[in-house]
Amino acid sequence: MTVLHELQTEVFPLQLLSDSLSRVKPSPSIAVTTLAGELRAAGRDVIGLSAGEPDFDTPDNIKEAAIRAIQAGKTKYTAPDGITELKQAICDKFARDNGLDYTAAQVSVGTGGKQILYNALMATLNPGDEVVIPAPYWVSYPDMVRLAGGTPVCVESSLETGFKITADQLEAAITPNTKWFIFNSPSNPTGAGYHPEELKALTDVLLRHPHVWVMTDDMYEHLVFDDFTFCTPAQVEPKLYDRTLTCNGVSKVYAMTGWRIGYAAGPKILIDAMRKIQSQSTSNPSTISQWAAVEALNGPQDYIAPNNALFHRRRDLVVSMLNDIDGLACPVPDGAFYVYPSIAGLIGRTSAAGVKIVDDETFATALLEEANVAVVHGAAYGLSPNFRISYAASDETLTEACRRIQTFCAALR
Ligand SMILES: Cc1ncc(COP(=O)(O)O)c(C=O)c1O
Repeated sequence: MTVLHELQTEVFPLQLLSDSLSRVKPSPSIAVTTLAGELRAAGRDVIGLSAGEPDFDTPDNIKEAAIRAIQAGKTKYTAPDGITELKQAICDKFARDNGLDYTAAQVSVGTGGKQILYNALMATLNPGDEVVIPAPYWVSYPDMVRLAGGTPVCVESSLETGFKITADQLEAAITPNTKWFIFNSPSNPTGAGYHPEELKALTDVLLRHPHVWVMTDDMYEHLVFDDFTFCTPAQVEPKLYDRTLTCNGVSKVYAMTGWRIGYAAGPKILIDAMRKIQSQSTSNPSTISQWAAVEALNGPQDYIAPNNALFHRRRDLVVSMLNDIDGLACPVPDGAFYVYPSIAGLIGRTSAAGVKIVDDETFATALLEEANVAVVHGAAYGLSPNFRISYAASDETLTEACRRIQTFCAALR
């Protein structure tokens, strides 16, 4: 019994785990959200601002479409990468919103935007292949690249450049080994969006490097504010159409994070390769969710504007309260529902409980410990010293959280 126990806990796990697993870490935003939930369950009054999902419910017309699908017996397997009706709705969406023409054979539907990106990387990366990723980046990009056997090449932006990289930086990062450039605008974690002329400067660089493919993650396309005009690479530079995978999903804009539907369109050879991966892993995304997504894309879009107005108001509230803090600088984002303030002015100070703030991780940990506010530290997104707040929460919650951050920062010596 003792010998078996030792085998199970020590020797066996070492042999069990793959080399590729050692290249990745768990998602830090999911880790912080889980920790905040555990602390709340243990009785602590923690405000969690780490989860990247809208705080409102999926619209009724979408829920009703799902119920109708269940009642009509649409509960069986489908084609591994999606039903024809959804692929057609996606083609119509790309034509309507982005001026991009795709056929259903050029469309892949997966279990969330995450699986779409993962399938594409798994289907294309070989050891030695490099993937250029602007930083700060969505936490999963570099780890997915590593899991697929490739090498992430991160290109740091800065607060001064509005968290956007320049054409010169992109040019310098591209090598003969570059396979993909991952683009995300508006961005998670900064909310920064590239204007058409800024994106054109990047696509001009990509035109000079025909071996580089473009993976654009347009998840926050519809969550934009003020006069920001969303644009996507194949639209800004049609000559890139043949080597661009345009990725999107219903999770954020339709408050459907739990339904798990993401999609992409691109060259058929790539879509076929992605289908092969999906057919040998998860098979089709939930049939019921697919029918709900058909309604999301084909049905009324009139809740998008009021939701954006709500997010706009919350953005202004959070940005203004954070910028009132001495030592903290919070740029105004163009979209999504995140802010990414810099704490450069607070480094070196000591908290009321005696913790020295040496980086954004010590800041986020002390904030949670001493002020009961859960945020994700910037190092997780590849640019420090910053932290990310998701402002997909009520005005009251955000006001209270920002007050706590103000009090915590005011007590730093
Ligand atoms: C930039 C970005 N891409 C993709 C995803 C994944 O979306 P999904 O929930 O559809 O997998 C997220 C979710 O946080 C995201 O922020």
